[in-house]
Amino acid sequence: MKSVGLIGWRGMVGSVLMQRMVEERDFDVIRPVFFSTSQHGQPAPEFGGQSAGTLQDAFNIEALKALDIIITCQGGDYTTEIYPKLRAAGWQGYWIDAASTLRMNDDALIILDPVNHNVIHQGLDKGIKTFAGGNCTVSLMLMSLGGLFANNLVEWASVATYQAASGGGARHMRELLTQMGMLHNHVAKELQNPASAILDIERKVTEMGRSGVLPTDNFGVPLAGSLIPWIDKQLENGQSREEWKGQAETNKILQPASVIPVDGLCVRVGALRCHSQAFTLKLKKDVPLQEVEQLLASHNDWVHVVPNDRELTMRELTPAAVTGTLKTPVGRLRKLNMGPEYLSAFTVGDQLLWGAAEPLRRMLRLLVG
Ligand code: HSE
Repeated sequence: MKSVGLIGWRGMVGSVLMQRMVEERDFDVIRPVFFSTSQHGQPAPEFGGQSAGTLQDAFNIEALKALDIIITCQGGDYTTEIYPKLRAAGWQGYWIDAASTLRMNDDALIILDPVNHNVIHQGLDKGIKTFAGGNCTVSLMLMSLGGLFANNLVEWASVATYQAASGGGARHMRELLTQMGMLHNHVAKELQNPASAILDIERKVTEMGRSGVLPTDNFGVPLAGSLIPWIDKQLENGQSREEWKGQAETNKILQPASVIPVDGLCVRVGALRCHSQAFTLKLKKDVPLQEVEQLLASHNDWVHVVPNDRELTMRELTPAAVTGTLKTPVGRLRKLNMGPEYLSAFTVGDQLLWGAAEPLRRMLRLLVG
């Protein structure tokens, strides 16, 4: 059995990864070694009924060198510090990483096997040993729209995202919920009275949002009752770094013959852990809508085409419906007024599952069987 080092297993993405690995009985086929950046020597956790001794030191290169495979959800700073040292020390094992640090390296692949299993297998044959999960919006887009990309039908994609708080991290989710609670408390009495004036309630909420009393250490500004049309760093070309990733990572994942332009606006909204995305797609030709739906639905086991129907859309194509599941539904499919090659689509997916943890454990299974 391969020894597999698990780093960052206690964090939010790591916890989801552990849960999925237990559900899929991944621990039955590996020898897990748990690491910690702060608590080595303490008892390791038990997942899947396996006792794993004590926590190892995540900064100990010699301990890491003994592993066949490392999966890390510890974050980019850890990868930046440890990965080069480990490779420089001659380690030849497989590194599977949730962070973005190594994604664009020439000797690394972005893993999303239902979409790019051919790229992954070719990479393995060539001796690639470094694998990174993709940006969550990119992975979720490709899970939902993979059927069109796989059939080389997408000339370009324009997107507006509706990204959940979890994409920022656990503290961001807490901050959003705290903001929501404070706003509600502020007007709870008036809300109970049906005769109170809604614009008075709204004014109180708006004033509170602007007053500086809401916690904003993580988002920088209030998100509850609002949105933030900027995610990640500002680049010189006017894109946010999140928007830059759209084209860069899509093309790295798919490795098409010529670059597929992907661009748009990335927006943080008050959802908890599902990213939604509204697309305008320019197709390379006029494909009948029914054929589009068939191609999308048959691409992988998790995508589901929601008919463009009001009731079904409201029931099935929302963060509330999708959160905590591996489903990556796509709906609102219709040809746009711009012409028969222009298609709209709306996708929803849990950013902690297909957007983060799931591709990692599936890469592990590709390596260990
Ligand atoms: N950058 C994403 C977000 C996280 O902020 O929503 C997942 O890659």
